[in-house]
Amino acid sequence: MSTYSKKLLACWHPVAYAHEVKAAEPYSTKLLDEALVIWRSSDGKAHAMRDLCIHRGTALSLGWVADDCIICPYHAWRYDAKGDCVLIPQSKHVTIPTKAKTPVYLCQERYGLIWVCLASQAVYDLPEIPEFEKGDWKVVNTGPFDWDSDASRQVENFTDFGHFPWVHPGLLGDPQRPLVPDYEVETKGHILHYSIVRPEASNSDDFPVFANEEVVQPVRRSRYELHLPYTIVLRLGWGAEKGMVYFFVSQPISKDKCRGYCIIGRNYDLEQPDTVLQNFEDVIFGQDKRVVESQRPEQVPFDLADELHLQFDAVAIHYRKAMNKEELAYWHMYD
Ligand code: FES
Ligand SMILES: [Fe+2]
Repeated sequence: MSTYSKKLLACWHPVAYAHEVKAAEPYSTKLLDEALVIWRSSDGKAHAMRDLCIHRGTALSLGWVADDCIICPYHAWRYDAKGDCVLIPQSKHVTIPTKAKTPVYLCQERYGLIWVCLASQAVYDLPEIPEFEKGDWKVVNTGPFDWDSDASRQVENFTDFGHFPWVHPGLLGDPQRPLVPDYEVETKGHILHYSIVRPEASNSDDFPVFANEEVVQPVRRSRYELHLPYTIVLRLGWGAEKGMVYFFVSQPISKDKCRGYCIIGRNYDLEQPDTVLQNFEDVIFGQDKRVVESQRPEQVPFDLADELHLQFDAVAIHYRKAMNKEELAYWHMYD
């Protein structure tokens, strides 16, 4: 019995950066408590299966890949990309039982990530990010960020405006300017849209990553799309043609574990080494991690009465309402 909602299982979730899944090397991960093995066939295509050999329950991810099959490390039973066992080397005479298979899940590669859906059909499409596929933007993978919290907490932290001056002073905010400007949230189906113009810190010498000019009190225009359940597309601008896209998505590993992938595209500073942004995000996510891991309960409580929400928390309120409406919150259980 799963304690996750059917719809949550039927969403695309990231399970790895594409570069982490190497040819001929099985990759082990977990999604919504389901242990997965991800591996590539000789055409480069990624496959996702339950990480369990039907023979004695061994993890297939400890095995190896050959002839477009994944091979169990214990007795070398072979499974093809459809999950069917196609070879049992112990006996020449045995007919392979029809039960000898492991479940295969939907799997696709896009935006430099491997995505898996645990249902037979996905309920939502992936967000469209043309900037990442045009070829003239520089795209940098940062993280991943492994946190001991639920994915909902990690995503919510990414959307939270009020903490910038306090958790990231001098990097994302200025404690002298703590006010959150007014903004409106519009919910269209499973996507929340909102924009904000807010104060930010000056570019620091250590991390010259943003395109704000050298003004005394810089502001940043941020256009957000929050795609339920755990994806954010954030477009940043500073009033001219320079732009930046943050694509953030959290992998729900279990109810108190998640892994965030933060992919950043820019149409400026194309020569800057990737490590500048990667080190910057290591600092930012490190500052957030200790705060979010302390939050209780580990999952966002989807009942609004459980916390205290004020007007500037409008994103959090809309997020809870939309997660409920779309039946993505945990208590939409089934058996
Ligand atoms: S446990 Fe996998 S082949 Fe025996
Ligand atoms: Fe933060």
